[in-house]
Amino acid sequence: MTQIQMTRRVVFSAALIVPHETNPDSARFGYSGHNYTLDVGVMGKVDPRTGIVVNIKEIDQIVRRAVLEKLDGKLINGETGPIGRCRGTSELVLEKIHEMLEDQLPDSVSLTALRLESTQLDVNEWLSETGAVASRANSRSGETLVTRVYEFAASHRLNSPHLSDHENVELFGKCNHCNGHGHNYVLEVTVSGKIDENTGVVISIEQLDAIVNAEIIDRYDHRHLNMDIPEFFDVIPSSEIVTRTIWDRIEPQLRQNARLYRVILRETARNFFEYYGKD
Ligand code: NI
Repeated sequence: MTQIQMTRRVVFSAALIVPHETNPDSARFGYSGHNYTLDVGVMGKVDPRTGIVVNIKEIDQIVRRAVLEKLDGKLINGETGPIGRCRGTSELVLEKIHEMLEDQLPDSVSLTALRLESTQLDVNEWLSETGAVASRANSRSGETLVTRVYEFAASHRLNSPHLSDHENVELFGKCNHCNGHGHNYVLEVTVSGKIDENTGVVISIEQLDAIVNAEIIDRYDHRHLNMDIPEFFDVIPSSEIVTRTIWDRIEPQLRQNARLYRVILRETARNFFEYYGKD
């Protein structure tokens, strides 16, 4: 079964009452405030009719309603705060966000990952046990992960032949515009494997670059995916499908000891798509 994890990034700021630093049990307390970055990862199957897992606007609205409206710009713990009386640690803020979102998502997806960045040096994450991230990480324990980042610019149009013109506009909005639109995509390719005793690497960067450039970058960069790239002539080049296609093209090219672990495709600064191969 093909499941893709889609992550939506939102930012908010909040203040917390925190226990006194040197004596947490004293009656004294202070305040802390952060500009938080929250990544919400949901996973589901690609709907063959639409080429997407879930409408990103819907997820964005849910996160805004369930989390941001309650926390953004507020003092969030204590007697009157939305997360109630608690010590105000990042761990507890993340746990409360999890509770706020848990029952709010549409049935077609499950909540699989949350990442809360309080500062660049202070990050908390939660991964569901059933999510691809956790299960794939277990299956590769003891191996080393190597990630290489690539960029390409390409245009595409989201339009499903299974939907009416009206339904296409309704679902895809601006992304349905008849002449397409472009993205500066950032592609992260991660391979896993044992470090080769002779070379000291899992895979040579030259070898990985040669594969990714030949299969993806040289072919997609500065092209219109729907019109120029044969693998998208008959499917909708949504980021979900592009992510999976990139996996399907790179994976067979890798040698046995360095296996493809993950493909991440960043479409904008606020959303990215992740694929770990078939379950
Ligand atoms: Ni687009």
